Parts: sequence; C-alpha cells; structure tokens
Amino acid sequence: MSEVAKIELDGKQYEFPVITGTENEKAIDISKLRDTTGYVTLDTGYKNTGATKSSITFLDGEEGILRYRGYPIEELAEKATFLEVAYLLIYGELPTQAQLDSFTNSITKHTLVHEDMKQFFEAFPAKAHPMGVLSAMVCSLSTFYPESLDPNRSAEAKDLTMHRLLAKLPTLAAWSYKNAMRHPFMYPKNNFDYCKNFLYMMFAMPTEEYDVDPVVVSALNKLLILHADHEQNCSTSTVRIVGSSQANLYATISAGISALWGPLHGGANQEVIEMLEKIHHDGGDVDKWVAKAKDKEDPFRLMGFGHRVYKNFDPRAKIIKKACDDILEKLGIVDPMLDIAKKLERVALEDEYFKARNLYPNVDFYSGIIYKALGIPTEMFTVMFAIGRLPGWISQWKEMTENKEPIGRPRQIYTGETTRNFVDITAR
Ligand code: ACO
Repeated sequence: MSEVAKIELDGKQYEFPVITGTENEKAIDISKLRDTTGYVTLDTGYKNTGATKSSITFLDGEEGILRYRGYPIEELAEKATFLEVAYLLIYGELPTQAQLDSFTNSITKHTLVHEDMKQFFEAFPAKAHPMGVLSAMVCSLSTFYPESLDPNRSAEAKDLTMHRLLAKLPTLAAWSYKNAMRHPFMYPKNNFDYCKNFLYMMFAMPTEEYDVDPVVVSALNKLLILHADHEQNCSTSTVRIVGSSQANLYATISAGISALWGPLHGGANQEVIEMLEKIHHDGGDVDKWVAKAKDKEDPFRLMGFGHRVYKNFDPRAKIIKKACDDILEKLGIVDPMLDIAKKLERVALEDEYFKARNLYPNVDFYSGIIYKALGIPTEMFTVMFAIGRLPGWISQWKEMTENKEPIGRPRQIYTGETTRNFVDITAR
C-alpha cells in the first residue's frame, strides 16, 4: 500500500498521499488540504514547502551534494564547458558533438543586440548599478521581439528565445560595465568561445590588441558552471512564479535577475568583498568582526556564511576554494583580502556559535575573491552570477511550462483588523 500521512483536525482524521522522489526525498502532498479540511499550511519563507516536482537539479544540504541532471557538480566543473552544462540543464542530456556544435552555433549567431538598445544604455546614469541596468535591458528585449510575448509557441520558437537570451546576456552585461566606465562598447567576437567573448567585451579597447590568459578563461568557465542551477532558490522560484502567469521569457528572467540582486541571495558575493575590505581598513582584527556577527544586538552578519539549505559545507564552496588558491597562485596575485578571508574561515569554523548553527562558508565567500583576481569590478559580481544562473532559470521555466503548472498563488493567514466602518476625516 502506498504511504499516507494522517492529519487529525477537529477530531476528524484525513489522509494525504506521500510522494517519494528518485533520491528518496519525501513530501506530503497537501494539494487537496484546503478543499477537504478548510485549512491551509503556514510556512513563511517556504522553508518546508515543495513548490514543484523537478528533474533538473538534486541537492542534499545535509550531505553537501549537488548534481545537475544526475551528474555531480565536481565532475561537471572539472570536465565540461559552460555551454555543455547549459545544454544539459535545458534539454536534459549531455549533448553529442553535433548537438553541441549546433547549439553553440545558434548562440554565437545571436550575440549582437539591436543598435537601438545602445541608446537605452546611454540614458542610464554612469553610477547606475549594473544589476539594475541588466534587469531593465533583459526586460526590454521583449520589446524588440514582440512574437516572444506569447510564451506558448512552438518548440522551435521557444528555442530561439532561449538561445537569444543566452547569447545576449553576456553582451548586455559587458556593455553595462562599459557604459558605467563611459568606454566604447566592444561588439562580440564570434570566433571566441562564450567565456572569452565575454571577457573580450568587458576588457578589450578598440585601440589595443586583446588577449587573455587561458587560466582566466578556464576559471570563468568553472565559476559559471558552479552557479548554473541550484533548484528552487529565491530567484529561481521568482522565475517559476512570474513565468507561471504566462509572462514572456524576457520579463520572467528580468524578474529573476532582480530577485538575485538582494544581498541575502546573489548580492552576497559583492557584500563579501565589501566586508573583507571593511575589516582590512579597520585593522584586520578578525576576532572583533566575528564577535560582531555573533552579537544579536548588532545587525552585522558574516557575509558568505550560512545557507538556507546547506547545513554542511557547500560542495561548490569546496571546488571554488581550491580554484581560488590555484588561480591566485598561477596569476601570482597576493591579496590581503584573501588572508583575511582565510583567517575568517578558520575562526568561524572553530567557533561554537557557527558550529552550532551549521554556518559554513558558501559559494559566494570564495567567488568574490576569484572575480576580484580576474579583474571583474565588485559591482559586476552579481551580474556574473546572473550569467552563470541563466541556463538554470531557463531550464526551470521550460520545465514549468512543459508540465503546464498552474499560476503560482500562495495563501495567507490574515491577521489584520476585522470589519469596521469608514470614519469621516473630521472625526478621526
Ligand atoms: N552571520 C552570523 N549569524 C548568522 C549568519 C551569518 N552569516 N547566517 C545565519 N546566522 C544565524 C542567525 O542569526 C540565526 O541565529 P539564531 O538561531 O540565534 O537566531 C541562525 O544563524 C539561523 O539563521 P537564519 O537567518 O534563520 O537562516 P536562514 O536559513 O533563514 O538564512 C542566509 C540563510 C540568508 C543565507 C543567512 O545565513 C545569511 O544571511 N547569510 C549571509 C548572507 C549570504 O551569504 N547569503 C548568500 C547565500 S548563498 C546564495 O544565495 C548563493
């Protein structure tokens, strides 16, 4: 007999099916709870709520496991290219050489953005945060491709929109930086691969030859893979919820970018470097800052520590920590921020407060340091995260539309005033 969960309410017993995932994850299916009992569940922050069934990413926070479509993140980060991983996430299988060639070709073909979009860039203030620019520019792509407003078109039409987004995001990201610097935009170079082309558009100048150390390209490839998907996190849930209203993919991804911006999510990598700099300028007393993080009267938190689902070491942090050491050594970079980061990591990992709460360094703790070593400006860190996360968002959106999931619409428990009569302004 299949497993059921029994709930007793007002002296009556109700049974609900138990769903088991392929990795033996268990959930109580309460989709009929309100209809049968009149009750809803309350779970602020969705800490215990499964919002969907998904076959894209598996993660086990207790064991520190992360796999895309069954493939361990460690193997993908070591052996794959970012576009191979993007294909895997979106289409479910690793591509054959012919499939990868055709996918790469399609993405390469769409790297240019419409010339009129340059005027949008120029209208932003020079100090505009690149995440604000990116979110706006991605949404505005929908105005150039009106046919994309209907997300339920043929598979070919959907593919075209997905490929366009993957192709144009690095261009828009690099141009948001160039615009902030008031430097000339560099047009994409399609004989470069995805990562090299992005670095070229970011750092090349029309007056100079451009070349980049392959170590830098490979580090970027690894970082993008590590960020490519992470199941139902804040920005991905945003993408699924916005997409569930049948909004077009550009608007949907733009919403995901906005959700990612927050310092408790993707914005943490920028906050990590800013925190390390603050500690450095304050004299480098790591113990003092750890004490501040533990003080409940003090709003300061150690950025890059803790994770909603990993209550063990974040597997991506393990890979990235090693990559971070390798890159700094290969590029011969000595960085006082890294010394502070290492001290912070040591102190926090030995401290009872952090141990008791399972607060380990997360992926953002190290990614900020690598981005800094690659010459990426701090304000662009979260933009880099967005480039990495794009295939994950797209694949989750695609899965949701293919599964014909209903519009996302949570319930609430109302705690406001009960009915009262309007009082005239003179009597208030
Ligand atoms: N520094 C100090 N204390 C912390 C930290 C931290 N970084 N993170 C959590 N805590 C403490 C909380 O104060 C709380 O203590 P209490 O039980 O005594 O009240 C306990 O640990 C649990 O914290 P919650 O906020 O309830 O944990 P939650 O799972 O809701 O939050 C989050 C996870 C948001 C990531 C949190 O750990 C945090 O703010 N970290 C810093 C920001 C960060 O690095 N974000 C990036 C996340 S990774 C990503 O998005 C890619």
